[in-house]
Formats: sequence, C-alpha cells, structure tokens
Amino acid sequence: MLCKPIMCGIVGYVGKHKAADILIEGLKRLEYRGYDSAGLALLDEGGIELMKKTGRVDVVAKVAQSRPTTATMGISHTRWATHGGVTDGNAHPHLSWDGKIALVHNGVIENYAFLKAELEAKGVTFRSETDTEVLANLIAFCYDAESVSNGGGYSAAFVQAVRQALLQVEGTYGIAAMCADVPGELVGARKGSPLIIGVGNGENMIGSDVAAFAGRTQNVVYLNDGQVVHLHRGDFSITTVDSLSIDPVISKIDWSVEDADLGHYPHFMLKEIFEQPMAIENAMRGRFSQDGSTAQFGGLNIDPRELRQIDRIVFLGCGTAWHSCLVAEYLIEKFARIPVEVEYASEFRYRNAPLDKNTLVFTVSQSGETIDTLEAMREAMRKGYRVLGITNAVGSTIARENDGGIYQHSGPEIGVASTKAFTAQVHIAAMLALYLGRMRDMSFTDGRHVVSALQKTPGLISQVLDRAEEIEHIAHKYADKNDFLFLGRQLMFPIALEGALKLKEISYIHAEGYPAAEMKHGPIALICPDCPTVAFAPKGEIFKKVLSNIQEIKAREGPVIAITNAGKEFPEGLADDVIKLPESPEVVQPTLFTVPVQLLAYYIAVARGCDVDKPRNLAKSVTVE
Ligand code: M6R
Repeated sequence: MLCKPIMCGIVGYVGKHKAADILIEGLKRLEYRGYDSAGLALLDEGGIELMKKTGRVDVVAKVAQSRPTTATMGISHTRWATHGGVTDGNAHPHLSWDGKIALVHNGVIENYAFLKAELEAKGVTFRSETDTEVLANLIAFCYDAESVSNGGGYSAAFVQAVRQALLQVEGTYGIAAMCADVPGELVGARKGSPLIIGVGNGENMIGSDVAAFAGRTQNVVYLNDGQVVHLHRGDFSITTVDSLSIDPVISKIDWSVEDADLGHYPHFMLKEIFEQPMAIENAMRGRFSQDGSTAQFGGLNIDPRELRQIDRIVFLGCGTAWHSCLVAEYLIEKFARIPVEVEYASEFRYRNAPLDKNTLVFTVSQSGETIDTLEAMREAMRKGYRVLGITNAVGSTIARENDGGIYQHSGPEIGVASTKAFTAQVHIAAMLALYLGRMRDMSFTDGRHVVSALQKTPGLISQVLDRAEEIEHIAHKYADKNDFLFLGRQLMFPIALEGALKLKEISYIHAEGYPAAEMKHGPIALICPDCPTVAFAPKGEIFKKVLSNIQEIKAREGPVIAITNAGKEFPEGLADDVIKLPESPEVVQPTLFTVPVQLLAYYIAVARGCDVDKPRNLAKSVTVE
C-alpha cells in the first residue's frame, strides 16, 4: 500500500559544521509539520549513514547521539502520514536499491505505481511502501545512465539525473537528495510543496520553512515550482527542471531566532496567545492615514478607483482562517455595504462558482501554503479574477502568486492551533472594512472613531490576558466534560466556531459552535449537566436575546460559562461562571472575545494531559488536499 508523506518537514545542510546537530535542530523547528516519524542521512568519506525511527524527532536525535559522526552534510525529514503504517521502514530518508541516492520528500508522486512497475521490471526491489522510494530509485537509474554518458562527471550527472527523474513524475514534491559519489553537494527541487534555500556563510541549507534556518541565517531564496537547486558549501545555483538557468533573488527573514523559541513559556500556544498585543500592533504599524480616519495598505496593487468599482467580494480560507473570513464578511457588509461571500477554499476550487466581473477575491491563510486555498486562488486567477491575500508567512506560495495583499506580520506561529494569526486576521479584516467603508459611505468622523477603537485593541487584549489565572481556574472546573457548546450571535458567531475548533483540536473534546438563536432548533437537545455552554454576551443589540438563551440553558440544568463586557447589566447568578471583559466598541469585540476561549481551550487541554502544541492527527500546514 502507498504510504503518502504529505505535510512533512525537510531540512538539508552542507557546510563545515557537524551536520547531525544542525539537522536535528532544524527538524525540531519543523516538527509542527508532522511528527509520526523522523530521520536523517549523513554523507562523509565512509558513505551514506541512515538513521530513521517512528516517533518524535527526539527519538532519532538519541540515535544520532549514540553514533558520533563528523559528517558536515546531510538531509533529514519529519513526517505526517496518511495511508499505511507509521513504521521505521516507511520513515524518510529513503535509499535507492544500490545505496547511491538518499532522498527526503514532501508531497505525493501520483504515478508512483506505473514508475514502480517499470523499475521492478528492470530488477529493482523495494524495501518500503512509499512513493518516495520509487523516486529515489528512479533518480538512481537516471544517474547510472547520466554518469556513463558524462564520462564520470559525477556532479553534473547527479543534478541531471534528478531533473530527468522529475520530468517523469506526476504529482507534487519538495525534495532534498544526495548522492554517495558526490560528497559536499545537495540537490533540492519543488513542485507544489514548499522549499526554501537558506544562504549562509560557508554553509547552505534547504528547508520546507524558514524556521529550519533559525539561528544560522536570515538570508533566504524562495524556490518556485519547477525549479531545482544545486547546493555546495560555498555557493548554489538554480535551474528549471528543463535546465534553464535562474537568477536567485535573496530575501531577508524579518524575525529573529528568539521569535521562534519558547522562552519561558511551557508551550508555543501559550506564548503565541500572550504575543497577541504585539501581533496586533504589528498588523497596524504604518497602516492608518495621517488624518486618522482610515486604513491604508501598501501592497494591494490595486488602484483605489478600481477598488471603488468592486461590487462583490469572495473570501476563501480553511479552518481558523475561514472563521476570520466570516468576521470580514460581517464587518465589510456593515461598513462598506459591499456584498461578501465566504467559501471554504476546498469547496470553491471544485464547484465552478459564477463570479461577476466586478468581483474581488481574497484568500486568507496563515501559512500561505494550504493547498486548498492555494488551488482555489489559482482557479480564480485562471478565470481572470483579481485575487488578493491576507497572509502571515512572507514569501509563501500564496503570497508570491497572488496579485497583491496584506501581510499580517504576526511573526512565526508554531503551535498547531492558530491563535495570534487568527486575531491578527480579524483585526486586518476590520481595517480592510474601514478602508472600503471610507471609500463609500462612511463619514470622516465615523472613520476616526473606528481607527481610535482599533488602536486601543492591544491594551484591551493585555487586560484580558491579565485574567489568565481566573480562566485557568474555570478551565479546571470543566476539564472532565466531553461535550461543549459555544453560542454566539452576529459577530460572535465566528468566534463561537473558533472557540469550539480550538477546544476540539487540542483537548479532543467534542465541541460545537452555533448561532445562539439556532440552539432551539436542535442543539438544545444536547443540554444537560454534563454539557457546558460557553455563551458570548457582548453589550449591544443582541445582549438581551443572548441572556434569554442562557436562561433556556439554565432551565435545562446546563452549566454556562458566560463571556461578557457588560457590567451590572449582566444578571447576578445567571451563569455558573462569568468572564468579564473590558468595555469595548463592537469592531474590537471579535478579537477581544477570542482571547478567553483560546485560554480556556489551552488550560483544559493541559489539565487533560494533552500535547498542546502537537495535537494528535494534525499538522500545522496542510499542503495536500
Ligand atoms: O495556514 P492556513 O491559515 O491556511 O491554515 C488553515 C487551517 O489549516 C488552519 O487554520 C487550521 O484550522 C488550524 N489548525 C486551526 O487552529
């Protein structure tokens, strides 16, 4: 059976330092991409040494420590598998049948069965169930032929063999390969899966994410689909898969190694929750007009007059990003009166949606690599629509391929459960709504009120974070429950969905988000003493309605945790627990009300002994459908 490695992490190193330590360090930083098994292959005068094991990177790190090696180059991999067993044999790297080629791979070789049959007919035997081993053997076959025709020019033959093999492959790949005959050289390539070059001083790296280079270099080159890189210790060159030479563009990563470290926090998720005031500051920096009445964005690449003609916007995203799209829908329709539709990117890409000629498409993605969002974007672009993106990862595929957009500047988000990236997306959605609103009917004075409210958000979030201990206490009270409801209306509905998703993801508790008024149409049947409800009750139009919903739950003996910014207006004793938030204007509420549910999910998961940063079955970046 095929064992597909899909959302894996790749790190390759060639330099003058001990490769094993650098690869392990890089893998640990990429472990969020998959953590079923890990492995590395090192190359020195003794040939290729392979170590791979099921389990976390720490397991293979121990193996590496027990085998002291001085190799200064190698490739490595951390894996997230779907089909087939998680076994040592299926872990990467894979060696070709003749032991010449070692390969790590992120993606799916769709025609692996055909290629495998051809190789088997030529006498190749296979040791694993993976498509990656097929590619390793194909490269080895091409290498044999190339090195003969090159008269022993092993280096050129190796690069050409990788190209030749890739030309026969259908599917997606980010790969790193090395050849036993060619010490000191690595070859990488990408199509559909990310691969980045880390340009160092006397050393070079390749990785699935810039996090792999933290502490070694901040200079990077983002490879495009169909490109192949040939790395030596002191230089590198890029060609296309059909041998055309490419001039590299070196970019600088805008965050430091400390940003990617835990610091004094026990988990990345908690660190990232506490980073939200700063993430929101970063999202706003330089983005308000001088007169303080609107937002401004440098990278939209669209003439304001053209933007005024837009009469429909479609937002595309997945998971948490999809929830932020729902907030964008509400705020843009309210401030700018432009009809907005929100679609799951995964549905949009296959449903041939009719798009009007004045429709603008927005994608929202933290990683900028989610395949469903990427393909939905490409489909909209193929149809000729302008697609803008709200993206966190600078240089990611979505950010590079879209027509323009807004970077979040949230810094690296490493916890699998998205937190600071979500609130930054929501905040940017509010700024975008303001910008579009001011181009239409929103007055100067109203614009200034919105700007002033948005600017207060970091301080308000800090006030909520000050209540973390109180929320932890509430979390302990309910940590043994196995079902939760999250109820919110209007702007709070997406936050109810997000609260439920956070709890599901990291504590494995069944949780549902619902519009509060919909409860009586079905979910009310779930209410009982063992099913707590988290009810969002912001002051405003629907406050009293939500209070009635809470009464209905209490009448059925359901425990209620209410989150409100109301003071005395919230009736004493109505809810079992009340998390009081500071007074805030409506535009800030989605961000503010998210923070307590992030903390609640976090503390419940910790109390249940769950692995918060690496929840079971999940990976941070979903790079195949
Ligand atoms: O990187 P993206 O924002 O495109 O990721 C989309 C979803 O996969 C992501 O939000 C997922 O739902 C998170 N695990 C949520 O915490």
